[in-house]
Amino acid sequence: MSKKKILILSSGGDAPGMNAAIRACVRTALHHDFEIFGCEHGFQGLMDQQIRPLHADSVANIIQRGGTALKTARCPEFTRPEAQSQAREFLLKNHFTGIVVLGGNGSFQGAAKLAESTLLQVIGIPCTIDNDIIGTDYCIGFDTACNTALKAIDNIRDTALSHDRNFIIEVMGRASGFLAVEVGIAGGAEFILIPELPITTEQLIDKIQHKKREKITSIIVVAEANQPGHSMQLAENIKNISGLHYRTCILGHTQRGGSPTVRDRKTATLMGIKAVEALIEGRSNTMVAESQGELALVDLPDADNATRLHTQAQLLKLNQIVCGID
Ligand code: ADP
Ligand code: F6P
Repeated sequence: MSKKKILILSSGGDAPGMNAAIRACVRTALHHDFEIFGCEHGFQGLMDQQIRPLHADSVANIIQRGGTALKTARCPEFTRPEAQSQAREFLLKNHFTGIVVLGGNGSFQGAAKLAESTLLQVIGIPCTIDNDIIGTDYCIGFDTACNTALKAIDNIRDTALSHDRNFIIEVMGRASGFLAVEVGIAGGAEFILIPELPITTEQLIDKIQHKKREKITSIIVVAEANQPGHSMQLAENIKNISGLHYRTCILGHTQRGGSPTVRDRKTATLMGIKAVEALIEGRSNTMVAESQGELALVDLPDADNATRLHTQAQLLKLNQIVCGID
């Protein structure tokens, strides 16, 4: 059997823990005597052939760093079939037998296109602070982002209490509210707004005005929901309709960076090893997933049904009870 020659790239939004996954892939691949190369800047770099060999030393001292040592990019060009077939041809011509893609839902759609060549093994490692890839209970980066956002909420609560002020805190989450729910509950938010459960401003005001307990501060956590900064308008609308004043804090990209937590480093390391094992098993069009606490290999998500949504409305309800508004 000929020696495996593998390429690894990170794509889409960076996520803390990507480096630990890259390190584990590289070291495991070398252990099995594969050749391994890194492609910089995701699919953009694949088209531009930004490829370099990786050695054990290439991934030394990155486990503790946020971001991705291979850099990443959003590359709209790669949604074109011509760009995808050009990339497949390039990989085959250069004798690559497999590619490991670290990224979110969009990146896995690109990965699935590469897997259309039966001569290429394509394995995905789920990495996104949104934690919203269908088929896995966990995506690398989520725990770190939650802890970063929670620290910010705790800080804001100090100043909110000191000044008797209300705050809306906007967290990331393009299509789903996992991050908002997790940090909203842990941060004691009075209300949590997520795209899966939209409510009108009037309904929101009704909830916060009818709270059972007279509070001196109120914190509402809102998911970004593909409209970064929309919580500024929400605060304005609340003021215009009810006269209630809310200050706004948009956490934005602070949540994407930073040193990964134990959870993210460990999961990323185990997922990186599992990705190489999947290559050894001859798998393709496959994602490393976490299911009920165990690592598993599943198909890459379908393009039409790639995003996991938060379905636990009950959790939000319970949080409101604890916060004394329902
Ligand atoms: P994420 O992977 O974090 O969800 P994006 O949705 O921005 O981030 O996707 C990252 C990249 O994946 C895109 O810039 C593009 O290069 C590629 N991609 C996204 N959707 C597709 C698609 N339908 N077909 C091929 N490639 C895609
Ligand atoms: O997908 C991860 C994410 O951080 C989303 O939560 C957010 O909506 C989006 O990426 C922001 O993307 P960009 O980095 O392109 O501003």
